[in-house]
Amino acid sequence: MFPCFLYLRPQSFQTIMRRDKIKKILDSENRDYETCVAGWVRTFRSNRFVALNDGSCMRNLQLVLDFDAMDPTVLKRITTGACLSATGKIISSQGAGQTVEMVVGQLDILGDCDADDYPLQPKKHSLEFLREKGHLRFRTNTFGAVFRMRHLVAYSIHHFFHERGFIYLHSPIITASDAEGAGQMFRVTTLDPLASGSDTSEKKVRGFENDFFGKASHLTVSGQLEGELAATALGEVYTFGPTFRAENSNTPRHLAEFWMVEPEIAFCDLQGNMDLAEEFLKCLIQQAIEKGGDDLQFLDQRQKEEDAQKPVAERNPTGLIDKLKFCLENKFERVTYSEAIDILKNSNPYKKKKFQYPVEWGVDLQSEHERYLVEKHFLKPVILTDYPRQIKAFYMRDNEDGKTVRAMDVLFPGIGEIIGGSQREERLEQLTIKMQEMNIPNSEMSWYLDTRKFGTCPHSGFGLGFERCVQFITGMSNIRDVIPFPRTPGNCDF
Ligand code: 4AD
Ligand code: MG
Repeated sequence: MFPCFLYLRPQSFQTIMRRDKIKKILDSENRDYETCVAGWVRTFRSNRFVALNDGSCMRNLQLVLDFDAMDPTVLKRITTGACLSATGKIISSQGAGQTVEMVVGQLDILGDCDADDYPLQPKKHSLEFLREKGHLRFRTNTFGAVFRMRHLVAYSIHHFFHERGFIYLHSPIITASDAEGAGQMFRVTTLDPLASGSDTSEKKVRGFENDFFGKASHLTVSGQLEGELAATALGEVYTFGPTFRAENSNTPRHLAEFWMVEPEIAFCDLQGNMDLAEEFLKCLIQQAIEKGGDDLQFLDQRQKEEDAQKPVAERNPTGLIDKLKFCLENKFERVTYSEAIDILKNSNPYKKKKFQYPVEWGVDLQSEHERYLVEKHFLKPVILTDYPRQIKAFYMRDNEDGKTVRAMDVLFPGIGEIIGGSQREERLEQLTIKMQEMNIPNSEMSWYLDTRKFGTCPHSGFGLGFERCVQFITGMSNIRDVIPFPRTPGNCDF
């Protein structure tokens, strides 16, 4: 049935297929039973004790070997990183550090690992080093914990929306629309600019009539506009998928490919949108605290150890779990953009000219301003609303003052903007005027305008940067360490 595995002893392979996961063994009260496990060696000491990890949890299972009875050539092959399977009896552990262990009856090396060659030694490696060994970093405690937490958060997102009757909408990855009007898009084309004889003149390429879709197409920057089409029929939808931005931002909070969660809700105004965003984030945090277990404990401890190495001023003000609990227990502060500008103008860093970027009504806030508001002034998550209309996207609903729009950004400590959203402009006339003002051709967006033309309704939505959320929950300071394969300017490995 599995010809490629025939070189393994067939009875052994049958046993491995029925292995128990280490998490199940360690979580169980059962003792004195025979089972099989398989995983990768973390450490091997005294020719007797193997710490085996299979990725099901942070903890290792201790295998106890009777080395007198073992073939010395097999013992030599038990090195850090080697893959093995073991069959034996689970008993209460004699030693400290674990409750159960396996007394091994049969051990098979499934994959050798040359200790001299293997980049991951049983010691602490820097995150920078592990980023360079991105294909192997899943095998470390830190990245095991991060990616199990990432899974947990993704699962909680689907659970949150499903429970509330939202429909999961798969918005397209390739699109001809520029949702944000920001123009920072990756082009998708099958035209080969290097092909001999091909006409790659600027005019021809601009025309795109010879391209795959017969028009210019890109990787999506947001699923929002398609989400709006569905929400104005299905009522409440959410997208959760990869989005792409060709921004040349080399920061610990930007990726060129990141995942976004975008709920879109009919019959909802900005207040309702803010309420949903706050409830949503708190629910994800609550689930992380309740279900994060050893992984969250490990990340909490990891942050404490990392902080101890830093100068006092750069340390986190609280531990990771305390920070998460604090966010749960406090209402997010809701402040208008105009109020925020006043606060910033009265701040010490402004008066002492410590801000690098200008603070003026009408200018977009920079990360330094957002972090001042959250980390120094309010000391809790903040929702900023009612931004100047000229710095926000065309689809946001105009306020009556004619100067601001019903926008909201949720700002989190250590992260800055985690959510961006708005009430949408549902009035056809206003939307058309605004698109003209912002040079967005109505002809290309007729499908979008149709929602306003045929039975328009008030509606709102927002986008959560999934990696920024995972960063907050895991305490990882660089966004590249919470996505399996980060894409950033100059980096596209694997
Ligand atoms: O604020 P943004 O640009 O909003 C939108 O895209 C709207 N269409 C959302 C909506 O209303 N449906 O992006 C939303 C969030 C940001 O708050 C941020 O958390 C994250 O996406 N984000 C990024 N995350 C990682 N790398 C980047 N380059 C990001 N750009 C935005
Ligand atoms: Mg934004």
